[in-house]
Amino acid sequence: ASQGLERKISIVGSGLIGRSWAMIFASAGYSVSLYDIDQKQIETALADIEQQLKTLEKGGLLRGTTSSDQQFALIKGTINLQESVKNATIVQECVPENLELKRKVWKQVDELVSPNTILSSSTSTFMPSKLSDHLKNKANMIISHPVNPPYYVPVIEIVPAPWTDPEIARRTRDIWTEVGQTPVSLTKEVPGFIINRLQYALLNESWHLVTEGVLDVKDLDKIMSEGLGMRYAFLGTLETTHLNAQGFEDYCRAYSKTIHEVSSDFKPTPKFEGPHVKEIARQLEAEVPLDRLQERRNWRDACLTKLSQLKKEMNKL
Ligand code: NAI
Repeated sequence: ASQGLERKISIVGSGLIGRSWAMIFASAGYSVSLYDIDQKQIETALADIEQQLKTLEKGGLLRGTTSSDQQFALIKGTINLQESVKNATIVQECVPENLELKRKVWKQVDELVSPNTILSSSTSTFMPSKLSDHLKNKANMIISHPVNPPYYVPVIEIVPAPWTDPEIARRTRDIWTEVGQTPVSLTKEVPGFIINRLQYALLNESWHLVTEGVLDVKDLDKIMSEGLGMRYAFLGTLETTHLNAQGFEDYCRAYSKTIHEVSSDFKPTPKFEGPHVKEIARQLEAEVPLDRLQERRNWRDACLTKLSQLKKEMNKL
């Protein structure tokens, strides 16, 4: 199925996510063609990637078995789309989250690619059918949605359109596994995919609890960071229940009535509008002012780095 294709990845869009993809694929020995519309943007991206690879290497955190120089040498920038996508195994699109722009970019790619190249989008919100109904190669279209930063957070949601060839879904999954990510396959597209559906369920309930004055923002967030999140870093929601009783069937016997009763108390979907927005923002900014967001992000990424090392160790046990 991958006949005629090279061990080459085309990354379309060299921003935050495009740079991470380039580094991940290069660490697994793929040559990477990094495309953007603007030469300056590519130069900035390449300089940033080189710097990031060096820093990772110094900290002993570089992925793969080759040096940062060897990995960087595999990444080439270009403003020529045809050259970038030629014989690529995957075209991984990561242009800004704008439907018209993405449809336009995919149309351009569609005219230039080989018939068996995987067409994969990093979109976090658009259904694959919305991105590909106008393409002649639409059977090759799929979504590979990461969580930021993908260099440390391995999960990838693979979402097919109704017309995606199952072989494309399978090949996409195999490639993400090969480069060290953790793919999760959806059998059909659903709005928000899975990550955002779960995230929004928690976010909606957080909104209600805080806006009804049950607890403040700081304490609400501790429920995840000092409680549920501790085990969710290792176990999913379902396995958590399995371990909290003598297996899932026992859990359902013991707790199904309670779960249903408590869940019946849930409020309708909130809108995240009105004066409560200001109040929640005020409480968050009291802890992390807007001019210190980057500092806090750096701390978050340092935590994720350590956590990913711990997970690797624990998964060996
Ligand atoms: P970004 O704004 O950092 O990068 C976008 C890049 O696309 C820029 O380098 C820009 O010059 C380039 N670009 C603009 N028009 C282009 C065109 N016509 N052809 C080629 N390149 C073009 O955006 P970011 O954050 O990397 O997001 C990219 C995609 O990844 C979006 O779809 C986003 O939803 C998705 N995503 C982002 C996550 C995040 O946390 N930032 C997480 C998961 C998915």
